[in-house]
Amino acid sequence: MDKDIYILGIETSCDETAASVIKNGNEIISNIVASQIQSQQRFGGVVPEIASRHHVEQITLVIEEALSEAGLEPMELDAVAVTEGPGLVGALLIGINAAKAFAFANGLPIIGVHHIAGHIYANQLMQPMEFPLLALIVSGGHTELVLMENHGSFKLIGETRDDAAGEAYDKVARVLGLPYPGGPAIDRLAHESDDAVEFPRAWLELDSYDFSFSGLKSAVINYKHNLEQKGGEVIPAHVAAGFQQSVVEVLTTKTLKAAKEYNVKQVIAAGGVAANKGLRASLEAAFENEGIPFYVPPISLCTDNAAMIAAAGTAMFVDGQRGNMGMNGRPGMSLTSWSK
Ligand code: KG4
Ligand code: ZN
Repeated sequence: MDKDIYILGIETSCDETAASVIKNGNEIISNIVASQIQSQQRFGGVVPEIASRHHVEQITLVIEEALSEAGLEPMELDAVAVTEGPGLVGALLIGINAAKAFAFANGLPIIGVHHIAGHIYANQLMQPMEFPLLALIVSGGHTELVLMENHGSFKLIGETRDDAAGEAYDKVARVLGLPYPGGPAIDRLAHESDDAVEFPRAWLELDSYDFSFSGLKSAVINYKHNLEQKGGEVIPAHVAAGFQQSVVEVLTTKTLKAAKEYNVKQVIAAGGVAANKGLRASLEAAFENEGIPFYVPPISLCTDNAAMIAAAGTAMFVDGQRGNMGMNGRPGMSLTSWSK
């Protein structure tokens, strides 16, 4: 690389308003995240209109802070990368419009990034990617196994048929009366627990890399109702531990099987649920046993952030990808390859 590449990343697809500057696709110069979690907790989840209002209030401040922390003037940047989808349409549009205005005012190209490509590229901020690579993506909206033969090439080999892993965490947490977001609360309880309720594992067909979590969610609800009807006491920690064991075992087993079948050089985990202590420990142990390199970013880069969007945006920029001022929010955007 002759000249350093500086990309500003912007992320507003859900409930974090985030901006970050990344150097050469792998070095974090600044990384600002304004979370709305406290506000969403009052409603037990993300209310789209409220999320959008928070983004409007925060976006300019967050971008200014990312630039001032980086010590860069806008003209020193090479491009602006922004989450184009998937996500809440109103939320996406705030980031996209801010990116367009910033790019137009400063004569910079704009690049639309897929949110999940961002989660995957969070790993590039920790160590170089090696291909073929298998990515396990587990977030509030996605549970996917993606095979990458090269930068910008994504082949979906498995996905959830119903709830995403994070969604199941959040719903089960609600049933147990835990605060939003449910993932961290269940993770904590599961770790403190001295026992675990036995819940089923959704393996689906033997050769399938698909996932299903709605049956497990129903099993938790039924367990609670049945026990309450009999006058028994539901111990949330035991339920949390049993639920987490079921999710973690299925995710680990399928990821390991796919890694072997596709003979990959590297396995990575990405997305908010990759922050889960139980899942991280289980994947680390499974891949260490097999001698397959496994990586997961630090927790702050697993949950939504803009550094990951700038990292993926840099890979796209280097590949000559450019968006235009007609860019729109794409709530149902699918993860398609930008290179073969
Ligand atoms: O990637 P993310 O920040 O946003 C989406 O793109 O969806 O993921 C959010 C999801 C939420 O469902 C949250 O409960 C879950 O990630 N999550 C966790 C943990 N931390 C966050 N799930 C399990 N264990 C955790 N420690
Ligand atoms: Zn996400």
